[in-house]
Amino acid sequence: MPDYLITWIHLVAAITLIGGLLFSQVVLTPVVRKTPSDSKSREIIRLAGRRFRTIAWVSLIILILTGAYQMLNESGSARIETAWGVVLMLKLFLFAIAFGLLLIHDFILDPYALSSQNTALPASSPIVPARADILQKGVIVLTLAVLLVASYLAKI
Ligand code: HEM
Repeated sequence: MPDYLITWIHLVAAITLIGGLLFSQVVLTPVVRKTPSDSKSREIIRLAGRRFRTIAWVSLIILILTGAYQMLNESGSARIETAWGVVLMLKLFLFAIAFGLLLIHDFILDPYALSSQNTALPASSPIVPARADILQKGVIVLTLAVLLVASYLAKI
């Protein structure tokens, strides 16, 4: 497969992941919070969250595979020994933290589990648990930082 297609797939996966996370934070959750029906709101967040979780992890796997391919392409070259290689390591470090936070968010806190739709929850309890919300915000900030470092990387 030509290199430009691998880069294109890498970029589509990055757009899907970051775009979906941003959509969830700045569109879906605020709109659902304003809807009057509490049980329906919780169900929409739960179903949307579960659906996006699959999309997010497929995107992450594609990012790792296409990123590793691009790295292997450079492994024999002197480029990896320059500032480019150091900045790439910074990008991978930030990515690893984002990956870890998303892992905790999706599989340990698991805010979209069936039990999160518990109708016995008091109406005052938040639609998205505060800890999960903070983690998701952290993942957004970190993936945007990865994008910033990647843009810099493309120019050196
Ligand atoms: C949120 C995660 C990620 C985002 C947003 C991201 C974004 C980008 C962007 C925008 C580019 C620039 C394409 C270009 O102009 O050439 C790029 C290139 C690249 N990415 Fe990623 N990436 C992510 C994850 C990864 C991972 C996990 C790896 C390694 C396993 C990786 C390795 C690379 C490599 C080696 C390049 C080529 C850099 C170059 O040739 O200058 N990326 N990435």
